[in-house]
Amino acid sequence: MDELLQQINGYKQEVESVSAKSADEVEQFRIKFLGTKGIVKTVMGEMKNVPNEKKKEFGQILNEFKLFVEAKYESLKESGDAAEEAGDHYDWSLPGSPIAVGTRHPLSIVRNRIVSIFQRLGFALAEGPEIEDDWHNFGSMNLPEDHPARDMQDTFYINTNPDWLLRTHTSSVQARVMEKQKPPIRIICPGRVYRNETISARAHCFFHQVEGLYIDENVSFADLKQTLYFFVQEMFGKDVKVRFRPSYFPFTEPSAEMDISCLICEGNGCSVCKHTGWVEILGSGMVHPKVLENFGIDSNKYTGFAFGMGIERICQLKYRVNDLRLYSQNDIRFLKQFTSAI
Ligand code: DAH
Repeated sequence: MDELLQQINGYKQEVESVSAKSADEVEQFRIKFLGTKGIVKTVMGEMKNVPNEKKKEFGQILNEFKLFVEAKYESLKESGDAAEEAGDHYDWSLPGSPIAVGTRHPLSIVRNRIVSIFQRLGFALAEGPEIEDDWHNFGSMNLPEDHPARDMQDTFYINTNPDWLLRTHTSSVQARVMEKQKPPIRIICPGRVYRNETISARAHCFFHQVEGLYIDENVSFADLKQTLYFFVQEMFGKDVKVRFRPSYFPFTEPSAEMDISCLICEGNGCSVCKHTGWVEILGSGMVHPKVLENFGIDSNKYTGFAFGMGIERICQLKYRVNDLRLYSQNDIRFLKQFTSAI
């Protein structure tokens, strides 16, 4: 008889420790303990083996055990119902968890802004490949193989084909467009360019440029100046001053670099403008007749101007970012500081 008592105590402990998380688990409990072949029935069946004089005592113990199991079943059912009810009555008016919204990269913001200013002047967006051949990047732009100006651009060549390289400037897109399109041509070409530079705060092996090209009859240097002046005012505001300095580029003649008054120190002198009060923002000039002829464009009939500017430089003046490496490090703390409204 002691054995039966021990068994019942063991079951009691087991019942006590049961917790059910779902209706399924509650049902499993019912089948195991209260089902037709369940433990309660089996234990009750032992009654017939109990000697008569002990029947009363055991009858009570078994009854208690049965009531105990049934009470547990009821409480499991209740807590299961409560959990289900909570699920059914989710409060949809609770505030949702916030969705993290990304921000645009500062270079994209500035690029889009530059492009949209020129689009308003009738320039169309054009793009070209980043892997270029020698002709589109250099040859057609009046930079023959032995030309000293090639030194200005340390080039990444592609091992598998000595004629292929990563474009060193977006001027290659000029070539791509002139090859396919007859004048009038009025395009704006943003894109990534590559140069073999040691990475530092002031230099990077890749950066971004925007190229502009306008070819038509009677395009003059005055058009170039006025177009770029309009751009600067739209980009930086009416108070910014510009100046043109004579320069040299093989693909333009005459050539000029354009400076704007330093926005950081307002012309008083700082490290960004190297204490001159002026910052160079682009190279430009009248398209060299040889470049036009390279694409079968009659240089007696057509003239054109072109310019190329660095997006990082414009970004530096706009947002005062002084380290070029920040643009490609993908540090969220840096990236989330920029808004599209500039
Ligand atoms: N391609 C030049 C560079 O990478 C920039 C440039 C200068 C582009 C003068 C032009 C131009 O179209 O006319 O430094």
